[in-house]
Amino acid sequence: MSYSIPRRPRRNRQSSAIRALAQETTLSVNDLIYPMFIVEGSGVRSEVKSMPGIYRHSLDTLLEELKEVTDLGIKCIDLFPNYSEDKKDKYATESYREGTLYLDALKTIKDKFPDLALMTDVAMDPYSSDGHDGLVENGKILNDETLDILAKMAVAQARAGADILGPSDMMDGRVGFIREALDAEGFTDVSIMSYSVKYASAFYGPFRDALDSAPRFGDKKTYQMNPANVREALIEAELDYQEGADFLMVKPALAYLDVIKTLNQNFDLPIAAYNVSGEYAMIKAAAQNGWLDGDRAMLETLMSIRRAGAKIILTYFAKEFALLQA
Ligand code: PBG
Repeated sequence: MSYSIPRRPRRNRQSSAIRALAQETTLSVNDLIYPMFIVEGSGVRSEVKSMPGIYRHSLDTLLEELKEVTDLGIKCIDLFPNYSEDKKDKYATESYREGTLYLDALKTIKDKFPDLALMTDVAMDPYSSDGHDGLVENGKILNDETLDILAKMAVAQARAGADILGPSDMMDGRVGFIREALDAEGFTDVSIMSYSVKYASAFYGPFRDALDSAPRFGDKKTYQMNPANVREALIEAELDYQEGADFLMVKPALAYLDVIKTLNQNFDLPIAAYNVSGEYAMIKAAAQNGWLDGDRAMLETLMSIRRAGAKIILTYFAKEFALLQA
């Protein structure tokens, strides 16, 4: 037995203390944004069937939940509204109507939790009778004609107290148009986290259940990106960078870790990744069946997204992660 192995990587894995020293990537509640759903009514806390542990809250129960969530150290939420069919129309007029559920909720939340960063979604789909992110005419999803609606929505959300706006429709010219509208109204401090690279993905299914917002016809392939492409991601990210985005997002996260890495290598803005509803649902379903250790799978998943290069992760696991750390 004279064989000598001078370089032994296992030495750096021999104890928990040494493993902690050698750990390259970290994950903290500071990195997370918690997406949450609001619905009309009071006393409502209805679980999204395909997203165990995630609820549509009415404002009163949402405020109770936010007390818990902020006490756990979560510093940012991304709020999405669920509107009933009768509130939806072709022009998504409900999205900027004074007194509407979503805007009132933002105001109340900002008032009660002034230190919580509030992120919003700027897209037509939750308010659109067509279930598309843009204005539909003769079966076509229009690009420029949607801009004015989005600008009204954006300014109304800023006025209601939003800190970070998330234009999520993946169409052209959004960030620049919204930036100009915000600045013209004096909201120069309101940030934009652009859904820069958002793919036409099967993994949004549970989210569309949560909001009843699935497209009424066709799919979103003329605006969301082809999952086969990564060079195109650089074009999208570059445009949003030029147009003034403060954060660049990749969505979904897990099937697109290479895209996260590519963006992180090419842009100096903070990169965010959206660990979407279907990614959450897969782990939850397997854990409920006893097929996976849910906590470990969650931690490994979130760490992989950070390791790929995302500084920020939007994730339905945020509260569970925070509870594990507490
Ligand atoms: C739509 C929007 C979607 C999500 C966030 N904003 C759905 C879609 O593009 O169809 C998905 C989030 C998730 O699946 O968790 N503007």
